Amino acid sequence: MANPYLPIPMVINNIITETTARDIKSFELKFRHESDAERFDYVCGQFAEIGIFGAGESPIGIASSPMDKGILQFTVKRAGRVTKTFHSCEEGMEVHVRGPYGNGFPMEDLEGSNLVIIGGGFAFTTLRSLTRFILHPENRDRFGDLTVVYGARSPGDLIYKYDLSDWEERDNIDLFVTVDKGDETWSGREGFVPTVTQEVAPGSENAYVIVCGPPVMIRFTIPVLVELGFEPDRIINSLEMRMKCGIGKCGRCNIGEKFVCKHGPVFTFQQLTGMPQEY
Ligand SMILES: Cc1cc2nc3c(=O)[nH]c(=O)nc-3n(C[C@H](O)[C@H](O)[C@H](O)COP(=O)(O)OP(=O)(O)OC[C@H]3O[C@@H](n4cnc5c(N)ncnc54)[C@H](O)[C@@H]3O)c2cc1C
Ligand code: FES
Repeated sequence: MANPYLPIPMVINNIITETTARDIKSFELKFRHESDAERFDYVCGQFAEIGIFGAGESPIGIASSPMDKGILQFTVKRAGRVTKTFHSCEEGMEVHVRGPYGNGFPMEDLEGSNLVIIGGGFAFTTLRSLTRFILHPENRDRFGDLTVVYGARSPGDLIYKYDLSDWEERDNIDLFVTVDKGDETWSGREGFVPTVTQEVAPGSENAYVIVCGPPVMIRFTIPVLVELGFEPDRIINSLEMRMKCGIGKCGRCNIGEKFVCKHGPVFTFQQLTGMPQEY
């Protein structure tokens, strides 16, 4: 069996500064060895430990889609030691990745259903992976209607603008982008994600909703979804607990008996209501 601690060498292929404040960057990483690219089999919603020798490693959601062959994309907010070191990196530099870890989104359950994807802030990363996966020509027919609600604090805080403008043009996705407060550059929607979700009122029949965002957004969005008729086992959420090993060994991320790194990070709202409120 492969050693789960063994890092995979990768090279930074492209760096995208996502936000006006330059505090969030996306890193497109290319596998150093073709054999690693073939072995790294992941599903949307999983995460990996990304690191730089000498600086340490951090758990980061995989923002690319499994259909994006040969590369992995991670979107990193500058926070502390590891993420700051990543932000100072340049294209061509070598980094490493361990993973993929976690359960990911329940793709088999989602197939054949209408999907509502709701994201707030930079927690949109794994939702971007999921949206790209569904929109891929090989996959689009396997899912029903696709509605995406995505919000950020300001226009400058919106990430993946290159994807958003592509998705706007398509007729096989209903996209609703909103900002808490616009500025002189913004002619789009204003309003908080829960309010916009209420206005959009996506149908709950034969539908799953996948929601990721800051705790305050989740807290106000869940009651809206329940009112729209979504059952708790069809409301899917991804948690970001503090993690170290990523593989259920160190005990850093547990909620009650569950290790978020191993049993999650994806849980249904029904599962979360049965767990201690430590997240
Ligand atoms: C499953 C999972 C997926 C994640 N996905 C992403 C992602 O896609 N993009 C991204 O930028 N970040 C993501 N994070 C958060 C990321 O792991 C932390 O921001 C990172 O580990 C900070 O490391 P650091 O060494 O730079 O900062 P540190 O020096 O460790 O800490 C700096 C600051 O960040 C806070 N912090 C540290 N770890 C976490 C954490 N896990 N959650 C919240 N705050 C933390 C600390 O309290 C401190 O205020 C994810 C975390 C998890 C568990
Ligand atoms: S991060 Fe070590 S047990 Fe989850």
